[in-house]
Amino acid sequence: MKTAKTITDNKVDPDVLAYTVGDDPVLDLDLAVWDCMGTAAHVTMLSEMDLARPIVTRREAAAVRKELGRIAKSAEKGDFSIRIDDQDVHMAVERLLTEKLGDLGKKIHTGRSRNDQVAVDVRLHMKDQLLRAESETVALAAELRSMGARGGRLPLVGRTHLQPAMPSTVEMWATGHAEMVLDQLVNLEAAYKLADLNPLGSAAGYGVPLPIDRRRTTELLGFARTIHNCFGASMARGECEAALLSAMAQLMAVLSRVAQDLILFSMPEFGYFRLPREYCTGSSIMPQKFNPDVLELVRSKAAQVLGLQTASLSLLHAMPGGYNRDLQDCKWLYMKALSITRQTLRILAKVVAGAEIDADRCRAAFTPGVFATDVALRLVAQGTPWREAYHEVRDHLERLDFEDPDAAVAAKKHEGATAAIDHGLYAKRETEALKSVAKRLGALMAAKKALLS
Ligand code: ARG
Repeated sequence: MKTAKTITDNKVDPDVLAYTVGDDPVLDLDLAVWDCMGTAAHVTMLSEMDLARPIVTRREAAAVRKELGRIAKSAEKGDFSIRIDDQDVHMAVERLLTEKLGDLGKKIHTGRSRNDQVAVDVRLHMKDQLLRAESETVALAAELRSMGARGGRLPLVGRTHLQPAMPSTVEMWATGHAEMVLDQLVNLEAAYKLADLNPLGSAAGYGVPLPIDRRRTTELLGFARTIHNCFGASMARGECEAALLSAMAQLMAVLSRVAQDLILFSMPEFGYFRLPREYCTGSSIMPQKFNPDVLELVRSKAAQVLGLQTASLSLLHAMPGGYNRDLQDCKWLYMKALSITRQTLRILAKVVAGAEIDADRCRAAFTPGVFATDVALRLVAQGTPWREAYHEVRDHLERLDFEDPDAAVAAKKHEGATAAIDHGLYAKRETEALKSVAKRLGALMAAKKALLS
């Protein structure tokens, strides 16, 4: 029987190796820098342990960190690769360190497991990615807000059940979506908070007979706190991926609604908005076509991310406690969802920025019925009880007249109504969110730099 040699296993059937390794040699490339960072923190902590005979001296730890810095740099440049017999990034880094530093390289894994490592790598990677996703979310909200500013109080037919309902404005439509997008930061930050916990030092999930200092690695890596229970730390793998996937799925659902409205309102039959031709694609047979394929794909990607989230929860469902290899498959789920969502945030911001507003078509869409509720409320102002006023209008819909939509939207002045949308509120939330992202990203980069240079 043909077998392949790995660091951990002497003899593994090549088909079994390929099946179990899966896409890790590719996926793990995104974790390489974070893996180096995690190892730098672990080795630093090992060198600080109070032992009669140190496992790694402080000097040796510095040498390891220096080499890890080199590996991280090559990974950032794209010069780092993972071999199938490495299995994953963790073994590839250990192999490189051992090739370079000999016996010292063989010591770095003392008192930890690969499960420990992958859990740390994934969390650092998620923190970085979630912060970038947060700032892209803010950027999309800002584009929607600015579309609202472009449209201003231009009347737009507000709809329920897709039927004409009440006078609205382009500003209300666009900033309403902006607010929904901004609110998604709550979920992204919840996912961030769960990612910001240090599992390192759980080893195989049950601790080790060494005086390891888990708080120290938490501090070095810049995590908010340590996951206290080692068994719990091992089980937290998959849970923070699921939280991230849930945030991505909900965010994508919000984006799909923006996309759907844009598709509908830019249809020739509506014509409220126009998508720039360079953001549309043509047909191979129908020369007149400019299709909103981008926005249709936003809808389909939202469905895919929901599928990825479902897959993650199905994978976790009834999984036995402790590490199970199933968890490896959480990795591509969350990575795929992140890349789809971030790409979608960016492309949608671009489409929103380019969307043109057709004032004539927006105004032309008004029909007398859109003013029906306003008419009934005028009767109320004259003393008619609401339900009577409602019936009065409903029984004589033919008497409704076309009214001035500008006056109708100007008449609604309470908080958040058509005449009182406060752009400053959104601008302030955007600024605060970006400030918080910059602060956290700065701290993460500082921790990385301190460990790897
Ligand atoms: N690539 C593996 C994963 O993502 C690393 C951990 C492997 N651990 C193990 N006990 N086989 O899960």
